[in-house]
Amino acid sequence: MSVFAPARVNLIGEHTDYSGGLVLPVAIDLGTTVEWEPLDALVRLRSLAFDGVVEIGLDGGGVDDGWGRYAAAVVGLLHERGRPGVGIDATVSSTVPIGSGLSSSAALTVSVALALCRAASFELDPLELAHLMQEAERRAAGVPCGLMDPACVLLARRGHALLLDCGTEEYRHVRLPAGIAVVVIDSGVRHALEDSGYAERRAEVERGEPRRMRHIVSENERVLRVVSALEAGDVDALGPLFRAGHDSLRDDFEVSTPELDLLVDLAYEHGAVAARMTGGGFGGSIVVLAEAGRAEALADRVVGAYHERTGREGRFFVCESVSGAAA
Ligand code: GLA
Repeated sequence: MSVFAPARVNLIGEHTDYSGGLVLPVAIDLGTTVEWEPLDALVRLRSLAFDGVVEIGLDGGGVDDGWGRYAAAVVGLLHERGRPGVGIDATVSSTVPIGSGLSSSAALTVSVALALCRAASFELDPLELAHLMQEAERRAAGVPCGLMDPACVLLARRGHALLLDCGTEEYRHVRLPAGIAVVVIDSGVRHALEDSGYAERRAEVERGEPRRMRHIVSENERVLRVVSALEAGDVDALGPLFRAGHDSLRDDFEVSTPELDLLVDLAYEHGAVAARMTGGGFGGSIVVLAEAGRAEALADRVVGAYHERTGREGRFFVCESVSGAAA
């Protein structure tokens, strides 16, 4: 038996989830697959992408480092939530680049969680499962992340973005415009700062620091305006909104990098409909909306110009939007 959990790219609504704000991510056709069979009294996971085999007790014990600690956190949390003690023997494979801001860890935790739930005929409401996976990330990596990533991985719908209000947890699906491709361009830069920088921003927001709050308030407003533009088919309105979102993350929230700034500039120079950094920042990727017929050529030119200017190898993915693992 097999379960697939997609990665996600956030269109807009960045660093708003942990203060109860609005997000607008899309699930994409990169993801993590878990092929499993039931097993007595043990969770055994084999991975080609990561390193080797991990064996986890049914209460989540026995593994506390490497990629296995994410799975161990999932096993432990589901055990605490009352999942019956059925093990699995599984192979985990993934097409999500790690550290690119595409939520490889949520794809991993959700896919492992769904395999475990199915093996034990144990069902949880998708939002409840998303909360558990948010906690798994915190337990495994110490990152105090928000609800966006696991919620999108579970609840997204093909051809749509997911508008989620992280305060009320109400959501609805917003249709993506026809003829527009969603492209991810990875800067190839991952700053060691990411985890501590993320926690620091979250603490600054909790303390209500004015510049950080200005980003949150303006970003929530931009999410609503992007949703209105998508619903009105007003593609031209998207560019300025994405541009303003990027500038706010760079100047007010200070989570961008020179490489992400350059990629965004290059994307607009080469004819993007809209572009901005995406995900937690401190490295990772930008998201680009481009006319479908020229998306690949545009991304190719951007990556070429980026290499010329920085010597760095960027890479891009022209993505299909897909449905979430629980949809
Ligand atoms: C990471 C976190 C999310 C969210 C984004 C920023 O992806 O996991 O919860 O906070 O950063 O929008």
